[in-house]
Amino acid sequence: MIVSPTPKALEEALQFLHAGDLIGLPTETVYGLAADATQDLAVAKIFEQKNRPSLNPLIIHGATQTIFQEHVEWDERAQLLANTFWPGPLTLVLPRKLTSSISLLASAGLETLAIRIPHHPVALDLLKKFGKPLAAPSANRSGKVSPTTAEHVAEDFPNLFILNGGATTIGLESTILDLTSTIPFILRPGGILREELEAVIGPIQMHDSDTIKAPGMMKSHYAPHLPLRLNALGPQPGEAFLAFGPTAQSDLNLSITGELQEAAANLFKMLRLLDQMEFTGIAVASIPMQGLGLALNDRLQRAAAPRDL
Ligand code: TXA
Ligand code: MG
Repeated sequence: MIVSPTPKALEEALQFLHAGDLIGLPTETVYGLAADATQDLAVAKIFEQKNRPSLNPLIIHGATQTIFQEHVEWDERAQLLANTFWPGPLTLVLPRKLTSSISLLASAGLETLAIRIPHHPVALDLLKKFGKPLAAPSANRSGKVSPTTAEHVAEDFPNLFILNGGATTIGLESTILDLTSTIPFILRPGGILREELEAVIGPIQMHDSDTIKAPGMMKSHYAPHLPLRLNALGPQPGEAFLAFGPTAQSDLNLSITGELQEAAANLFKMLRLLDQMEFTGIAVASIPMQGLGLALNDRLQRAAAPRDL
């Protein structure tokens, strides 16, 4: 059920969360499937509903930095990054405090927690009123394309109570930065760029897409049903063509003017649209490997990878 985020609907959402039930939550990146992070049974429902492998930990969302203090070991780098980029599409992986009340299932038994403050008025309002952290992975079935509208969420979870926050503005998941090593590591490229992070805390490393660093970051992910062919100059017979930049011929165009931000906001939506038509595959034009292009190519490579799930 898709509902507009009126005060009454927010009250209802809070009741669901307190009762250990799930809701669909808009953020600036993608929609989340949210539960009270401190209730084991509620967190277990996320894994069950998404059909998610239980070794794949969840991101914990809060409205303020203070709410995380009892859960993670904070340090100077985390402080600088949080002050600069939160609320926003940056997830920080930090050592988990032994006394944290967050469900161990949410962090898949790891000694770390992934946390962020989302930049969306509905999410922030709800998190403030809830007063506790919410565990929220992207609101899609495991391995499938992430949702950027409430309608996408309803396609995968028809019975879910979904707060409608409109189409997400970023369209790709948050950047995940591991701060538990001496040199921080980007585990997943996303809305905040490596250069932006380095400007604040100095050198960081990028994980190469062939190794799985974040648990559960399988190669095949974000996958539509149809096979994907990347760096295509044009479609082969039967294929849909997802273009980028000015072109004579395309079924859909990520950004006619070749803007990476627009392409990021359109990617998951357009993959879904082309996946529903009568094609044999989806050919995707090449996207430059700079700025947000890194995150875009990361998602495309996973969407095109052999389906190993
Ligand atoms: O933008 C986002 O981050 C969205 C919105 C809803 O906030 N959430 C999202 O969650 O993308 P999900 O579950 O689809 O992806 C979470 C990623 C997974 O790849 C997981 O392995 C990683 O975060 N992760 C979670 N906890 C971790 C931890 N303690 N250490 C390393 N990676 C972790
Ligand atoms: Mg996801």
